[in-house]
Amino acid sequence: MKLPRKKQAPKAAQASSRQTGENQANKNQADENQRGRKPLISGNWKMNLNHRDAIQLVQQLSYALEPDDYARVEVSVHPPFTALRALQTVLDADRIPITLGAQNCHAEDSGAFTGEVSAEMLAALDVRYVIVGHSERREIFGESDEDVAGKLAAVFRHDMIPILAVGETMQERLEGSTQSKVAGQITTALANLKKEQCASLVVAYEPIWAIGTGRSATAEDAEEVCSFIRSQIAELCGKATAEKVRIQYGGSVKPITIAELMAQPNIDGALVGGASINAEDFARIVRFRHEG
Ligand code: PGA
Repeated sequence: MKLPRKKQAPKAAQASSRQTGENQANKNQADENQRGRKPLISGNWKMNLNHRDAIQLVQQLSYALEPDDYARVEVSVHPPFTALRALQTVLDADRIPITLGAQNCHAEDSGAFTGEVSAEMLAALDVRYVIVGHSERREIFGESDEDVAGKLAAVFRHDMIPILAVGETMQERLEGSTQSKVAGQITTALANLKKEQCASLVVAYEPIWAIGTGRSATAEDAEEVCSFIRSQIAELCGKATAEKVRIQYGGSVKPITIAELMAQPNIDGALVGGASINAEDFARIVRFRHEG
């Protein structure tokens, strides 16, 4: 079953919009080649979907996405732990080029930590990306910058890639402390990283006030902070390394907002919550060049 695509426009409009679309696609491709960073669009499913629903969602996604989409954008899904094994099996058996991700891990490899899951266990399930320091983990479960640094090290230790989430509250934004908050989160997280680890890192800038609120940051505001994040990484790990780091924006990303966000020079992808558990919406986000 193919998911419905956009309605057909009249012929003349189609030709001109095709041309504009092609021009935009060529421009995006040129920008990307220049940047050398393949966009990464990640679906953070949070505490939603049991393993059966999870299988259904990736199957719907695989029908909606074309080989060309995967060539242009890397796509990862981050289900709850209980669905990882089922998805690993389906992605592998059906050769679906969606990358498997997790939402969290513990800093230790094993031990008396009831209810926790280690990075080592995730690696054994072919997980490639692990979100660390999501604001819900920091705010609801009290994770400190130091806890996040420990998890980051664990993810690298098992040859996976962390998606380090950072961002400010509305109050911090109003007080003008967005940059100092984000700089502190980045500095502690990157303190003990080697250069090559730093280069492979993904950072997700997620203003807390934009998460799950339907109120996305404007593309300009998001770009301003993402550009600042890159400059911070350059200070800590060198400019050449910072140019390799992929920076995602997250917070109420929707099909109608993605194209403008992706057009920003320092935004290399998106971390998508609510819209990622709907196959049609998430596929439209991945195919952002066709939107807008
Ligand atoms: P949202 O969530 O897209 O529902 O705002 C983003 C996130 O928390 O990663």
